[in-house]
Amino acid sequence: AQSERESLFVVNQWACDYFRRTLRQTDEGRNVGMAYFRSRGFRDDIIEKFQLGYCTESHDAMAREALAKGYKQEYLVKTGLCYETDDHRLRDRFWGRVIFPVHTLSGKVVAFGGRVLASATKGVKVKYVNSPESEIYHKSNELYGMYQAKQAIVKQDRCYLVEGYTDVISMHQSGVENVVASSGTALTTQQIKMIHRFTNNLTVLYDGDAAGIKASLRGIDMLLEEGMNIKVCLLPDGDDPDSYARKHNSTEFQAFIREHETDFIRFKTNLLMEDAGQDPIRRAELIGNIVQSISVIPEAIVRDVYIKECAQLLHVEDRLLVSEVAKRREKEA
Ligand code: CTP
Ligand code: MN
Ligand code: MN
Ligand code: MN
Ligand code: MN
Repeated sequence: AQSERESLFVVNQWACDYFRRTLRQTDEGRNVGMAYFRSRGFRDDIIEKFQLGYCTESHDAMAREALAKGYKQEYLVKTGLCYETDDHRLRDRFWGRVIFPVHTLSGKVVAFGGRVLASATKGVKVKYVNSPESEIYHKSNELYGMYQAKQAIVKQDRCYLVEGYTDVISMHQSGVENVVASSGTALTTQQIKMIHRFTNNLTVLYDGDAAGIKASLRGIDMLLEEGMNIKVCLLPDGDDPDSYARKHNSTEFQAFIREHETDFIRFKTNLLMEDAGQDPIRRAELIGNIVQSISVIPEAIVRDVYIKECAQLLHVEDRLLVSEVAKRREKEA
């Protein structure tokens, strides 16, 4: 007999196919869903590659078709594709949204993200609805785009980390295929380990706004701890990789990354220095903060390189940082 996990994957795969069919073979799918993807400039081959779909505006069309095909209500609810209303009716979670399926490393459909259409009234619906956690879906274990990116990550020996679904898709369209999205949340250790299986080199390419900058600082100590080499590339203020890619051709896009990616420790030091100004207390805090980041790096040689570089940037003596890092490591040990 099939295990429950297998059954949930089967239902998800059916739903993924259903959303893709709806996008291409129904009038509403073509006029609303496909028109939306076209308005964002998504090419057909890319829509196909990411198995994008559409869920109709009728609140239960998918649920009815699934039940008619013999899929159990229990599994429709457990995958989060549907939910039961207070009066015991089955509703489609993703009605009236374009669909971004989330795949496991091996290509099984584990979850979905649904985006409202541009035409939807602002504020009435949240921009993205995502599958809830389930027996098969643990958000912190998955990375959007990993299935489509893994070969390119190995080939390029680098992984780009972006915030969102559309960033991954636009970058593929611009010829950069070694890219995954953390889907708007801070990276977890499991996600980092997954990337680390394929490469040591990661470039964080978050949105060029305050939230993006903050997010690129957060969680980075975890990457350092894993022994990965990290760079950060900040996009122009107000842009994310998707909007930037739409304004520039792929040569320009790739040149921008090459010219603007900086080593993470340097990025963090410069950013905090700008923030602290000449205030001695804040400068002391900042040194503590940088020392903390350096002290989690496993290899002594790498720590040493960073200590030298940061001592210069911060205008302090190497040996001060050496002893501070040593103290910090003793405390952690
Ligand atoms: N996100 C989410 N729920 C939200 C907002 C965001 O799950 N209410 C996740 C999505 O994975 C989204 C990512 O965080 O792709 C980044 O959010 P944001 O930058 O706001 O969206 P974009 O990906 O830029 O989407 P779009 O270009 O369509 O506005
Ligand atoms: Mn390694
Ligand atoms: Mn953002
Ligand atoms: Mn964004
Ligand atoms: Mn965007």
